[in-house]
Amino acid sequence: MLILGIETSCDETAAAVVEDGAVVRSDVVASQWELHAEYRGVVPEIASRAHVERAPPVVAEALRRAGIGLGDVGAVAVGHRPGLIGSLLVGVAAGKALAWSLGRPLVGVDHVHAHLYSGALAGGGTPPVGFPALGLVVSGGHTAMYLVRSWLEIERLGATIDDAMGEAYDKAATVLGLEFPGGPSLDALARRGGANDRAHEFPVSRLAPESLDFSFSGLKTAMLYAVRGVPGRRDTPPPSPLTEERRGDLAASFQRAAVRAVVLKLERALRHAAEAAAGPMRTLLVGGGVSANSRLRAELTDLAARTGLDLRLPPMHLCTDNAAMIAGLAFPLLRAGRTSDLALCAEPTTSC
Ligand code: KG4
Ligand code: ZN
Repeated sequence: MLILGIETSCDETAAAVVEDGAVVRSDVVASQWELHAEYRGVVPEIASRAHVERAPPVVAEALRRAGIGLGDVGAVAVGHRPGLIGSLLVGVAAGKALAWSLGRPLVGVDHVHAHLYSGALAGGGTPPVGFPALGLVVSGGHTAMYLVRSWLEIERLGATIDDAMGEAYDKAATVLGLEFPGGPSLDALARRGGANDRAHEFPVSRLAPESLDFSFSGLKTAMLYAVRGVPGRRDTPPPSPLTEERRGDLAASFQRAAVRAVVLKLERALRHAAEAAAGPMRTLLVGGGVSANSRLRAELTDLAARTGLDLRLPPMHLCTDNAAMIAGLAFPLLRAGRTSDLALCAEPTTSC
């Protein structure tokens, strides 16, 4: 079964063709970052207008690269929640129009759940995911953990109570004067030879002892204060000048604290999920833009080795928003009869 996936929830216009939920036949992403760079953040109205212009050629290119025509498409999947409402509406309208005109099933897919699927698309010959699994999504808009009993039963265990991890990275990078999007730039700076990750003590958010939620706003503010000084505090020394060396140290120290907070919550969630599922987790599913982060990837690899989990880290090009993950997750949904009709709505938020 060839599923055409469409993704337009934020600032990437994407289309992909995935066969049987496993083989990525094509994966086309038209990024809009150049349109939003001067604003240092995504401008919703600009994003939706760009989706309108780009969706038709992106879908055509996905079909061309897959070597198929519209008649070969078995079902159309679209990310319909959560995201920017104007952006989502474009993809949902395109998905409905294609499914209706082709007489093929339409599958509405949750964008955040789909991020969890991206590690299952790692390539031919990858064994099926063993359940139950613990899921982690870390992106610019979302930071949450899930108990994944199967692809049809995804239960949120906790989420950020303020900033998403990627958002904190992007803002910390702005404070350090790095290029937009900041996450990859901060990661690169932190990795640079000589950067000392213990030079600055950034707070590691823990929240209540059993909390499975995240908080990144304190860490973001700590970076602001480290660089610009604490407002109104004349008793504290002014911050040291932001030399190249200090920027590297701050980036590495920030990265250490951010990743530490995630690993700490995953360790808690592993205990909690094993109780809830009455058995240990078999797999760790990870997705979202920040799963491209070098330190997070290294520490998750260690965590998986320590706890005997099968770690499914997406390949780098599937960490950020893409439509292959949408078409991928649509396959088990479709097989279970979870199709949508033309009443499918774009939903800006989700609680699941
Ligand atoms: O998943 P995604 O494309 O969009 C959302 O659904 O939000 O994630 C984009 C986010 C941005 O905040 C970006 O800075 C962050 O992922 N990101 C990274 C890295 N690569 C992308 N953050 C830290 N380290 C990276 N290497
Ligand atoms: Zn995303």
